[in-house]
Amino acid sequence: MGGQIKLGVIGDPIDHSLSPLIQSKFGEALGLEVDYKAFHVIDRELEKFIESFFADGGHGLNVTLPHKLNCVRFADILSNEVELIGAANTLSKNRNNQIIASSTDGMGFIRDCSEKNIELSDKRILILGAGGASQSIIPSIARMNPAKLMVDNRSPDKIEKLLEKFSSFRLRPFERNHEPIDLVINATSAALSGNFNWNIQSQLNEETVFYDLSYGKAAIEYFSWASKFSDNHFDGIGMLIAQAAYSFELWFDKFPDLSKINLDVLNK
Ligand code: ATR
Repeated sequence: MGGQIKLGVIGDPIDHSLSPLIQSKFGEALGLEVDYKAFHVIDRELEKFIESFFADGGHGLNVTLPHKLNCVRFADILSNEVELIGAANTLSKNRNNQIIASSTDGMGFIRDCSEKNIELSDKRILILGAGGASQSIIPSIARMNPAKLMVDNRSPDKIEKLLEKFSSFRLRPFERNHEPIDLVINATSAALSGNFNWNIQSQLNEETVFYDLSYGKAAIEYFSWASKFSDNHFDGIGMLIAQAAYSFELWFDKFPDLSKINLDVLNK
């Protein structure tokens, strides 16, 4: 690869994206001349943008909301994970110039849990939310053999659809009983309304771990609710970095050494 390597992230909106900062740091650390830009792409320009980005020598793209589902239609090859969840966050190109759609969100979540010593195997896990964010992590968590993997959602009809879609992963609806929940993952956008509350108090205690897939200000409301029960709460900044590292690996066959890359600026 001669000259700068063209990469980017597409979304609508996109101004808030931390991906350019993260991916540029990865490139720097591995001595690659990376030109990673954020592109504001609206839905009706998605196909044209993806096509011309790769036709013009683009090497890889990250995809964020609202295009994670739609971008899959414009890929030639889907990874197994994308086949399962129906959404992608990474596009790359193979030697035959075919576009491959992959999803690294689930792997990113698992890696961050492992870095934070959040155990998943044999644990009772509840995912709140049934949208794209929730779906992107379900297969990866299920593969870790939790004791129970449950989902709850504001709209019950979506729970039914999810159970059907992931029937091979032993996903269950939330069971209201006296069993404590070990890990509660917030995959909803409920906190955007300025308040977070979920009626599961009797199954929470000081050992319960709380994880929010969003980060920074967006996780504040969930944290303030979680703090009533336990001090173990984490936002999704580590997952964001880890999913980015897996995308980088798909493009360059090298996994950035996260312990050596200073991304403290993201915690501000
Ligand atoms: P994403 O891709 O981020 O998952 P999404 O697919 O729009 O976004 O899903 C948003 C999730 O947040 C859904 O589970 C939604 O619940 P509904 O299916 O009932 O809409 C959930 N959500 C959004 N606002 C909420 C609120 N105020 N209270 C509870 N759940 C909420």
